[in-house]
Amino acid sequence: MAESTLDLRHAPKDRAYAQLRAHMIGVLAGIDDDIAGMATMAALLHHSFAHLWTGFYRVVGPGLLRVGPYQGTVGCLEIEFGRGVCGTAAAERRTIVVADVERFAGHITCDPRSKSEIVVPVYDRGGALIAVLDVDSTRRAAFDQQDAAGLEQIVRWFAGEGRG
Ligand code: SME
Repeated sequence: MAESTLDLRHAPKDRAYAQLRAHMIGVLAGIDDDIAGMATMAALLHHSFAHLWTGFYRVVGPGLLRVGPYQGTVGCLEIEFGRGVCGTAAAERRTIVVADVERFAGHITCDPRSKSEIVVPVYDRGGALIAVLDVDSTRRAAFDQQDAAGLEQIVRWFAGEGRG
């Protein structure tokens, strides 16, 4: 559905995330399903901002992430807590902004075109960590605190915010 894709590449980030969140809540209205939410969010974020890779790694066991719904080239299948940017964000339960992936010790390269990334923890209604959202860019320093705030707000859908 072409009408479901926004072009937010050149919009100010605060407005872009607010618009994307409103759009996403509309698209997901009446859907109470985490996988459908992850797939829809990955598609909306990826195409609206023209990112390199956009997707979720789900918590599937103690200390283990497995790739979930995503857009982009084939992602690494499993990441242990504490490994890479995703595993570090999961272990420390915090958003991590990496301006230059070559300067992040232990960064896991899935696509060599990736130059910067952001990883945001995802919590359910009870506050349990269920996944991380990983977004990669071909540009260095593509992400900042506005992206962190915008993406953290968007993934609060899994905690029930804006969810019908
Ligand atoms: N770069 C991530 C791995 C996931 S891929 O980028 C899709 C990391 O270091 O955790």
